Order: sequence, then structure tokens, then C-alpha cells
Amino acid sequence: MYRHSVEIIENKKIASNIYKMTIISNHVAQTANPGQFIHIKIPYDESLLLRRPISINGVNRDQNLVDIVYQVVGKGTKILSHLVTGEKLDILGPLGRGFWIPKGTKKIYIVGGGCGVAPIRFIGERWNHLDITSFLGFRGQSWAYQIDEFEKFSIKVFLSSDDGSIGFKGPIISLLDKQLSIDKPDLIMACGPIHMIKALQKTLIKYDIPCQISLEERMGCGIGGCLVCTCAIGSKNNWNYKKVCTHGPVFWSEEVILDGEFETKC
Ligand SMILES: Cc1cc2nc3c(=O)[nH]c(=O)nc-3n(C[C@H](O)[C@H](O)[C@H](O)COP(=O)(O)OP(=O)(O)OC[C@H]3O[C@@H](n4cnc5c(N)ncnc54)[C@H](O)[C@@H]3O)c2cc1C
Ligand code: FES
Repeated sequence: MYRHSVEIIENKKIASNIYKMTIISNHVAQTANPGQFIHIKIPYDESLLLRRPISINGVNRDQNLVDIVYQVVGKGTKILSHLVTGEKLDILGPLGRGFWIPKGTKKIYIVGGGCGVAPIRFIGERWNHLDITSFLGFRGQSWAYQIDEFEKFSIKVFLSSDDGSIGFKGPIISLLDKQLSIDKPDLIMACGPIHMIKALQKTLIKYDIPCQISLEERMGCGIGGCLVCTCAIGSKNNWNYKKVCTHGPVFWSEEVILDGEFETKC
């Protein structure tokens, strides 16, 4: 954990309600891994005591630049969207245990839904020596972002939207399922809303493919001290609460218990 003040280099709208912010941080740019996040103190509103976690979207190590992409959903992200070049942010990070590449992995499928597309872009940027296929799901055309970035490192980009205005009309997991029935990767990595993650877990029952998922649980401290972010990890008969902020946010999909009595926790 490293708390520091960073300068905003750019903050711009890139899709409906979605913003990309670039900050300058030598520490984050040089040390962050895909799946890690920064924990941001929201300025100008003392009532917002809790920091807001936002995943790292990509880094430029030569220039010490760090990109984040965030959706405006409440007071904190609204304030972020109004910040301009030159303003400062108080951040902690990089935090959490991100994605990792097990030995022997050559071919990966990366899957993102909504604002979960943002963290998986960093996977492709960092590990572009791998054979990567991307699956991106959006609400619709006006919500879609960074598709061109994924095209740079992907062999193929599959797109879907809720309203059919871009790509396949329907859930991105349906497209993934169809592709898995004809071609299998060594590893799947995913981030998205809980309903997408649940659909992914259900689909994976049919296939013997390892999958890492990033959970976007509500957070407090972000550093393991408050237990706000706990999630049930293990098997139905043998599980433990783990902290998403420090043990995760990335876990093996088969270990994450999202249904039944655990639904309210995750
Ligand atoms: C590890 C991690 C990484 C994240 N990365 C990103 C990212 O890259 N881009 C991005 O847009 N968002 C990301 N999020 C979610 C982001 O942190 C929240 O959207 C943000 O904190 C909301 O702050 P707010 O003050 O605007 O909204 P609030 O006023 O706090 O909440 C507004 C609404 O959003 C809901 N909400 C808030 N936080 C979450 C959450 N974590 N999960 C589900 N619903 C939530 C609340 O229930 C409420 O309905 C991430 C969350 C985690 C835990
Ligand atoms: S957010 Fe405090 S323990 Fe995870």
C-alpha cells in the first residue's frame, strides 16, 4: 500500500456515462499488475469518507501514466467526472491481488461486461505475447468503449449488447459459450457485473477450463482492516470468508460462491 498525491493529466468522457482519467504516478505505473486497483479519496465532499476503488485500465511505464475508466453511478464518481487537468487526487495503490498467468499458458480468452471491460484491457496490454481472444459486452453502442484498443492485441474481438445496437444481441456469455463449444483456451479471465459472473460460472460447468474472475465488491478501507468486502470462497461444504480487497479481487471462478445464502455478501 502506498498513499500518495497524483496529478490528473486528462479526464474525458469516452462513452455514455463512462469516463477515462489519466493520472501521473511513477509508483503505480511501475508496479501495477492487471486486476489491481487504486483506492481514491473523493475530493470536495467531506461527507464521502470512504475511498472509491477503481481498477487500473492500463499504464505507460515510459511516461509514468496510469489510466482508469469509470462509470458515473453515484456522488463519488460524479465528482470524479468533473475534475480537470492539473487537479490532484489522493490515492492508495496499487492494491489487491490481480490476475496471474499460470506456467504454460499460451492462449487466453478475456471477458468483460460494462465497466468490467476496463480492467481486462490491462491484461491484453501487459500480456500481449499471448494468443488473446476478447469478449466484450455492453448495454448498447453508446455505452461501448475502447474496442479499438482490444483490436490491437486480440486475434478476434467478439461483441454483444443488450439492445443489439452493437454486435450480437444478448449476453456476452452466450457468445463465449458458443465459441467454447468449438475452440478452447488454456485460461479465461473475466470481470463484469454479478449476473455476468454467475452466468459464466454456470457455463463453465460444461467445460474443464480454468477461469480467473475479478469481483467488484463494495469496499471500505481497501487494505484488509474493516471486513466490509468479505466474500465466501471455497466449496459449498468447505468455505471461508476472504477479503476481496487483499485476497482478491481476482479469484479462481470455481472457488467463488455467489448463490444461495451467500448472495447478499457478494
Ligand atoms: C476492486 C474494484 C474495482 C472496481 N473497478 C471499477 C472500474 O474500473 N470502473 C468502474 O466504473 N467501477 C469500478 N468499481 C466500482 C466502483 O468502485 C463504484 O462504482 C464506485 O465506488 C461508486 O462510487 P459512487 O460514490 O459514485 O457511488 P455510490 O454513491 O457509492 O453508489 C451508487 C450506486 O452504485 C452501487 N455501487 C457502488 N459501488 C459498487 C460496487 N463496488 N459494486 C456494485 N455496486 C456498487 C451502490 O449500491 C449504489 O446503488 C470497482 C469496484 C471494486 C471493488
Ligand atoms: S475493504 Fe476493508 S477489509 Fe476489504
